[in-house]
Amino acid sequence: MTDAGTPGASLTVRDNRTGQEYDVPIVDGTIRAADLGKIKTDDDLPGLAVYDPGFTNTASCRSSVTYIDGDKGILEYRGYPIEQLAEGSTFLEVAYLLIHGALPTKEEYAAWEHEITYHTFVHENVKSLMQGFRYDAHPMGMLMSSVGALSTFYPAARDIDDPANRHMQIVRMIAKMPTLGAWSFRHAQGKPYVYPDNDLSYTANFLSMLFKMSESKFEPDERLVKALDVLFILHADHEQNCSANAVRSVGSSQVDPYSAVSAGIGALFGPLHGGANEAVLRMLRRIGSKENIPAFIDGVKNGNERLMGFGHRVYKNYDPRARIIKKAADDVFEVTGVNPLLEIALELEKIALEDEYFVKRKLYPNVDFYSGLIYEALEFPPEMFTVLFAIGRTPGWLAQWNELVQDKEQKIARPKQIYTGERTLDFVPASQRWA
Ligand SMILES: CC(C)(COP(=O)(O)OP(=O)(O)OC[C@H]1O[C@@H](n2cnc3c(N)ncnc32)[C@H](O)[C@@H]1OP(=O)(O)O)[C@@H](O)C(=O)NCCC(=O)NCCS
Repeated sequence: MTDAGTPGASLTVRDNRTGQEYDVPIVDGTIRAADLGKIKTDDDLPGLAVYDPGFTNTASCRSSVTYIDGDKGILEYRGYPIEQLAEGSTFLEVAYLLIHGALPTKEEYAAWEHEITYHTFVHENVKSLMQGFRYDAHPMGMLMSSVGALSTFYPAARDIDDPANRHMQIVRMIAKMPTLGAWSFRHAQGKPYVYPDNDLSYTANFLSMLFKMSESKFEPDERLVKALDVLFILHADHEQNCSANAVRSVGSSQVDPYSAVSAGIGALFGPLHGGANEAVLRMLRRIGSKENIPAFIDGVKNGNERLMGFGHRVYKNYDPRARIIKKAADDVFEVTGVNPLLEIALELEKIALEDEYFVKRKLYPNVDFYSGLIYEALEFPPEMFTVLFAIGRTPGWLAQWNELVQDKEQKIARPKQIYTGERTLDFVPASQRWA
């Protein structure tokens, strides 16, 4: 919602400490925090600031990458509805769209696909680096470190003001992410790392690097390739979420994009961001069978449980991605056989969508309700779920970063604080304090 069409819109603020009134301009439904800074009780004291832990009501940037209307359940990348992209596009085309802001021509797409395909290999020393991890290293930790390490392999990436240079690093990162993700998966299994196969599509090649054994050519089931490609599309961006904010915040220091994206991977590693689908699986396993659902729902309503995979900070309507994922789940189960937990999930959803507790609170299934079931059917261990998320999210992080570095209004991220500690204490050296 914007106020762009209301010229001269403003907010009148009366400071009851001084009785003074201020006119603060409203542009695009926001006021500038700096305008509040002019509200002071004394010229020598700091001006008024806003206190907003978690930035829940603070716009940190102008962005034309992703539009979300949580009340209506709308998600659009560069103006295109997610449903249409999932139905008719590919992950690589969506990546192009997010980065460039427009869909590619036939020639542009061919060049993009070629570039990405021919940058899937990584330096052999990256492989040695990954092999140095402990046998039980979490794949997300391996991914985060190896992406950060790429900054040392491409020192020229620090020249972030050169558009051609930025493009090169963007291509490299989108191309190499599946290689690093697949190798972190193979590492935990003690299996040899599989090199990229440039004859395969982006997502088919990823499956090859994950699952290929002694066969000379890995031939993935096209239905699985399509389902995983759709999952990547659904995760490709979600505007200013925790990891995008981490990429932007670290990127605002003008560091290279590998370091900034590595910070984004760190943010995604946290259970509040990328870990909910694993919690859904645990919950479904605990419920065990359809007969136990009513007792579980009672527990949720009494406040003893949480229905994982339901509810969202932004979506107060059906998460548009959940609908698409449900369809992808059907396609995957056609190949792999039905995950026995699906029956419980479907019944839970049916009951919850009719129950007044959930209806009143606008609690609908979110993207994580079904994605874990699909990943499990594809034989991914839960630790890999966030790695898959990170591969899908990479074009989004890079689109946000690319926008940030070209935005003249952006400054190094440096929030204010409300200081609550001691002041002007006298330091006594340890030799005297301990005497
Ligand atoms: C995502 C989530 C953190 C959003 O939280 P939020 O926007 O802060 O919503 P609130 O915690 O304010 O919840 C509002 C009300 O709905 C209830 N609620 C929210 N999610 C619920 C859930 N999954 N199960 C049961 N009740 C839930 C809250 O208890 C609260 O009820 P109250 O008004 O009686 O106190 C929350 O819905 C949740 O924990 N969901 C489960 C985890 C999950 O799937 N996360 C993945 C998100 S992609």
